[in-house]
Amino acid sequence: MSITDLGREGIIEILQRSDAFSEVSARAIPKVPALRGRTVATLFFENSTRTRLSFETAAKRLSADTMTFTASSSSLQKGESLRDTVETIDAMGVDAMVVRHSSSGAPQLVSKWVNASVINAGDGAHEHPTQALLDCYTIREALSVRSGEKSEDFSKLRIAIVGDISHSRVARSNVLAFAALGAKVTLVGPTTLMPNSLEGWPASQTCDLDGVLQDVDVVYVLRVQLERIHEALFPSLREYRSRFGLTVERARALGPNALIMHPGPMNRGVEIDSEVASGNNAHITDQVRNGVSVRMAVLYSLLTLSGKSDHAPLDESVDGGEDRLLDAPRYESDPASQKASRPRVRHG
Ligand code: NCD
Repeated sequence: MSITDLGREGIIEILQRSDAFSEVSARAIPKVPALRGRTVATLFFENSTRTRLSFETAAKRLSADTMTFTASSSSLQKGESLRDTVETIDAMGVDAMVVRHSSSGAPQLVSKWVNASVINAGDGAHEHPTQALLDCYTIREALSVRSGEKSEDFSKLRIAIVGDISHSRVARSNVLAFAALGAKVTLVGPTTLMPNSLEGWPASQTCDLDGVLQDVDVVYVLRVQLERIHEALFPSLREYRSRFGLTVERARALGPNALIMHPGPMNRGVEIDSEVASGNNAHITDQVRNGVSVRMAVLYSLLTLSGKSDHAPLDESVDGGEDRLLDAPRYESDPASQKASRPRVRHG
């Protein structure tokens, strides 16, 4: 539900486990039997491209069955309540529900109503924990390319999160995750787009983007969430760009190794210039690629190592234990592998 559910140790565990799934994703056949027999449903009550497809890809690479629910084509349009909707899906036998909703707290409510394990894929302006995990993973990966060693110690890092902080669930989860790993985080944006109080935000704040650029190791740019802004909080998008946009000129002020990140979707030409988003220091497509591995690690951890599922733990249900689950899939034509991969315990 929240990055705070994991804490520093939990974050590190997921990052380290994600390495195994990155290795799986890089294979010619990027698929392992780890969640065979399990069903993962994505329930998106709000629009999404990358988060939904990323979770679905992650579930498929783990051999889970997937169900896709889209609010606009569902019985919600006939007046069905959220509770009846999720209880209906739960009754079909679902192990995990990945929930996105425009209201903060909706996934927490859903988790009280269903037997399935629930993962928060973004709730209102509250949190987006798997985004924060994939961002930590991307920073760790980029730094390890330079230093040759993987480290979850971010204590030497200065990270600026720039833009519409107050409407951003990404900002909240990322501040919590970056700070848990030791980074020094500065929130940058117009005061009208800052949280009313910094209580619960382990970060400092400033309106002066130009004043921080030369000192930061990571610039994390946020989209202006126009769909959540119902009053005039800044004069115009042009004015916004001139003060808070990561323009080509501003990007030149960054150190040569500074990482540029954005959770997507981007408004090129508003919060970030197109050349900057597609430039050498941008790690935006790495974030998307890593999202699949990190979500594989989250689904795997939740469904095999903890969670509410009644199923037998997978390492007891498949010959060979946990190591076997990350092996490449074997095919029916290979009699030796049929024996090796057949489940000893039939689920459900
Ligand atoms: C974000 C979201 O939906 O919270 N996108 C994402 O999940 N990658 C950020 C946004 O919409 O601006």
